[in-house]
Amino acid sequence: MTTRILTGITTTGTPHLGNYAGAIRPAIVASRQSDADSFYFLADYHALIKCDDPLRIQRSRLEIAATWLAAGLDVERVTFYRQSDIPEIPELTWLLTCVAGKGLLNRAHAYKASVDKNVEAGEDPDAGITMGLFSYPVLMAADILMFNAHQVPVGRDQIQHVEMARDIGQRFNHLFGNGKEFFVMPEALIEESVATLPGLDGRKMSKSYDNTVPLFTSAKDMKEAISRIVTDSRLPGEAKDPDTSHLFTLYQAFATREQGDEFRADLLQGLGWGDAKQRLFQLLDAELGEARENYHRLIERPTDLEDILQAGAEKARRVATPFLGELREAVGLRSFRTAAQTVTATKKKASKGPRFISFREDDGSFRFRLLAADGEQLLLSRNFTDGKAAGAVTKQLQQGGELDIRPEGDAFTLWLSDACVADSPAFADAAARDAAIESLKLALAPQQD
Ligand code: TRP
Repeated sequence: MTTRILTGITTTGTPHLGNYAGAIRPAIVASRQSDADSFYFLADYHALIKCDDPLRIQRSRLEIAATWLAAGLDVERVTFYRQSDIPEIPELTWLLTCVAGKGLLNRAHAYKASVDKNVEAGEDPDAGITMGLFSYPVLMAADILMFNAHQVPVGRDQIQHVEMARDIGQRFNHLFGNGKEFFVMPEALIEESVATLPGLDGRKMSKSYDNTVPLFTSAKDMKEAISRIVTDSRLPGEAKDPDTSHLFTLYQAFATREQGDEFRADLLQGLGWGDAKQRLFQLLDAELGEARENYHRLIERPTDLEDILQAGAEKARRVATPFLGELREAVGLRSFRTAAQTVTATKKKASKGPRFISFREDDGSFRFRLLAADGEQLLLSRNFTDGKAAGAVTKQLQQGGELDIRPEGDAFTLWLSDACVADSPAFADAAARDAAIESLKLALAPQQD
């Protein structure tokens, strides 16, 4: 069996070296496994939650698409698309929103962090918090459940979201599945072996710390960033400790074992930091130079990128469209064409089964008869002063359950909550009466299908 792997990349910002080592490179490697069926997409609806600058959204989508392709993603093998090209995603988001507990979403870390910040600042708890932020995990659940992903490679901060996707999916299965599991339960996949790269200052490389090494912008930018890597003040000739040097950690993340060992030995022997930085640049340039060229070629041909992504969307929708059709059907959003058939079918069936017939007496009271399938009268109700009461009694009888039937001579009466509600006609004898009681019970038994 193939494993479906799915992950989304929020399209704010430009990918940096940390994104490459932590997410892009391992995802591309994973997509090459023969049993992997990978779905990678640009989470541009998610980007709108964090960013209201259209130019930046547009630019980032383009850059991230080009980055993944330049880094070697094979779109023949994987399904690569933009979230916003799949209209089934927001549609599924709504179906899931209607089953997701608000209390569940109240517990989402990102939302809670914003609330805490507001409270600390003495503001209204929900100040500046959009429904987009609040519902973020539901949209993400739709991303994952739409394609029945088994594994979802994410960073640690996203584990809770994958768990929420399970919760929400399970609830939907339970409510509408009728024993069928519409959604596969996804697992978050945290790659322990994947490097979290240190940034220029030694903290985790992250845009929010402004300590990143650019990935594909230009060789010059990369060189310039590397020159800013913070080191200790040891001079050339003095021994350096590779194990406390994040420059060395960066080097190792891209080097073979031999290259790493050699670099370590040279540092211990007093390699100057300037030379060390030059060596790091050469290593990265060798590993990424060709991809950088590809990247610029792609960026310059946005229409080609558009075509690639449209083809990806088509591929994804071949899965999403029929599946969403099933889900709509399950919740009751059905065509009237099929619904009309169902109504006729039940009508036909009803006309073959027992029937309640309501009528009004000349004195204005309401009554009903129950006729057996063959038209024989089984019951005639007592008189009800209002139609609602009569309706309530027929409804209760239709729901089935224990019947309080009291034989009286060659007839019988029917009681509900110790009130006599209907009488049978008089039968020829006790045997005919009992046969009628049996057919009454049968007529009012809950339908099996
Ligand atoms: N929220 C994820 C992040 O910020 C991106 C994302 C959106 C995602 N939808 C997803 C990841 C579905 C995995 C699966 O990293």
